Order: sequence, then structure tokens, then C-alpha cells
Amino acid sequence: MACQNCKSGQDRLSKLCRIIEKNDNDPSKLIPILHEVQREFRYLPEDVLAYIATALKLPPAKVYGVASFYSHFALEPKGKYVVHICDGTACHVKGSMNIYDALCEKLNVSEEKSTTEDMQFTVETVSCIGACGMAPVISINGKVYGQVTAEKAVEIIDELSAQEVANV
Ligand code: FES
Repeated sequence: MACQNCKSGQDRLSKLCRIIEKNDNDPSKLIPILHEVQREFRYLPEDVLAYIATALKLPPAKVYGVASFYSHFALEPKGKYVVHICDGTACHVKGSMNIYDALCEKLNVSEEKSTTEDMQFTVETVSCIGACGMAPVISINGKVYGQVTAEKAVEIIDELSAQEVANV
């Protein structure tokens, strides 16, 4: 299995085996296994789902069905930074869609194509993330930013991009 994030396909396979073994090869732990695997690979590749099905002795259609049922699971690769713009009621009335539009324009992404070509950023809307008092809210890889304006969101993206360039 080829993977840009690992030194070799072997690394990737051993990470996968470790997660499955840690969960006792138990088919009733399918959802926690999928969570952990997604944390590791940032999404659930098709070959990985097939491997999990074999290891847990489950029909591949069942594993794929669970992975595609929950919106939390991603079947497509996501960017290094996953930007969630809250579009719950409190954030929506405070202009969250302006933030979304500004970031889509900045990163040249859309609802249909939410990840940048260079795989750095994925931009998605989510429903209330439980920080309504700080609306409008965005989160980037789980870090929450409150009272964000479109300009501020673009600034945050610029900072992250600059950090990436500095780290090359
Ligand atoms: S509506 Fe956005 S955090 Fe609750």
C-alpha cells in the first residue's frame, strides 16, 4: 500500500495492524477502530477498509456501510489542516457563511471540491460545535477560534501557510 505520509507501505500496514490488535480484532469495536484509523491516516482509504473487513472477519460491505453512514468518517483524503466553519444558528446569524465564502475564495475550494490541490487545507461547514457564546466560531484541526471575521479567518490561513513554507 503506497502512502505519502509514511516512509513505506509497510509502515502504514503495521500502524493499521497495531490499531486492530489493540482492539482485540473485535468486530464489535469496528467504530472505535475506524475512528483511530482515521486519526492516523486522516481519512479511510478503500484498501484500508477492505483490510479492516478481512482482519475483523466482517463483510466488506458492512465496513464500508458503517464508514459511509457516519458523516464524521471521511472516505476521501483531507488536507493537512481541516477547517470547520460552524454554521449552527448562533454562528449563522453572526455571519458564518461570510467566513466560509471568504475562505473558499482564498483557497479556491468549494462545496464540491473542499480540499486544496496541494492537500494543505480542507474547508467544511459543520453544525453547532458547542461554543455558541464565542460565535461565529471556526475550528482548525480541533482548535477553536471564536469571534472570527472573514478577514481574521483569512489571516489565520495566511499564518498557517507561512508556517508551512517556513518548515519546508
Ligand atoms: S452555533 Fe456555532 S458554536 Fe454553536
